[in-house]
Amino acid sequence: MKKVIYNQFGDERVLELVEQAVPAIQNDQLLIRVKAVSINPLDWKVYGGEMKLMSGSRFPKSLGIDFSGMVEQAGSQVTRFKEGDAVMGLLDAFKGGALAEYVVVTEKDITRKPALVSFEQAAALPVTGLSALQIMDQLAAVRPEQDVLINGASGGIGVFAVQIAKKRGAHVTAVVSTDAVTAATQWGADTVIDYTKQPINQLTQRFDVLIDLSTKLSLGEAKPLMKPRSVLVSTLPSPVTLLSSFVTNLFSGKKHKILILKPTVERLTTLTNLAGAGLQIEVANTYTLSNVREAYAEARHRKRIGKSVIVLD
Ligand SMILES: NC(=O)c1ccc[n+]([C@@H]2O[C@H](COP(=O)([O-])OP(=O)(O)OC[C@H]3O[C@@H](n4cnc5c(N)ncnc54)[C@H](OP(=O)(O)O)[C@@H]3O)[C@@H](O)[C@H]2O)c1
Repeated sequence: MKKVIYNQFGDERVLELVEQAVPAIQNDQLLIRVKAVSINPLDWKVYGGEMKLMSGSRFPKSLGIDFSGMVEQAGSQVTRFKEGDAVMGLLDAFKGGALAEYVVVTEKDITRKPALVSFEQAAALPVTGLSALQIMDQLAAVRPEQDVLINGASGGIGVFAVQIAKKRGAHVTAVVSTDAVTAATQWGADTVIDYTKQPINQLTQRFDVLIDLSTKLSLGEAKPLMKPRSVLVSTLPSPVTLLSSFVTNLFSGKKHKILILKPTVERLTTLTNLAGAGLQIEVANTYTLSNVREAYAEARHRKRIGKSVIVLD
């Protein structure tokens, strides 16, 4: 089978397409024939060597976290899925391995793909959809009538964050660049701000929840936009931000929460139900395995609405 690997840290040029044997499964595992894999910003942080502490430095390494596909083979202890089921799921974020024609998973890694969701859309859902759900339910605990600002609302997480915050009954302000203004209104945002025309530090409104997906908004910059009892959610964990947020949260009504994605079967099921009920999933571009380097270079450097997806034959 074809698989994307890399043997050193670096930019997209380290990615190689190689031939490997199709892996064998244990009794509690499933073999998935992969149909599509989406690109996440974490991928290039890992193959770029920024996450060595989490990923380790042993090579060869694999790439690709979330995927969709068909169950090719199910081990004898597998109870919830059978051969031929269309599924979607995610692998360990720091080990990857979904960018391959076949991948081995356990039942807790996957969920059924809703019939109305394409394989490309399904691959675009797990990491970013679960992140959006964890932010809404656990970190920000968004409630009806709250004022929620989403900075970076047209990227992978943002598309879902806007829609889920609206479902929770919040008043949503989406901050995007010019090309995404119309789309953000379609996802349900009450107010849309084009950050290329109006910097958010000029806003006079104050928010209960700020969600920064751009990774460019510090707590210091966010504070003037926050109500006395409010929360900023950031998505870039580091020892320094984790420690400073811990101290901030002891003494201030303006809390700082940091996302560390923890996928659960329950949230994966909630996400599947939302997708089956019409959650809009944006696929910006599709690529093939053979142009994986181009796919990553474009995802990293070009503006896009939603996610880039690599489609397998
Ligand atoms: N900690 C965790 O467990 C975890 C889990 C998942 C993701 N993440 C991280 O969360 C972040 C967001 O993920 P994602 O998949 O949504 O990334 P993404 O698709 O790259 O989205 C980032 C968004 O930020 C916007 N942006 C860039 N500069 C901006 C600015 N100055 N002001 C406002 N918006 C700006 C971009 O819009 P334009 O392109 O239009 O500028 C883009 O829509 C990434 O850094 C990712 O690595 C962390």
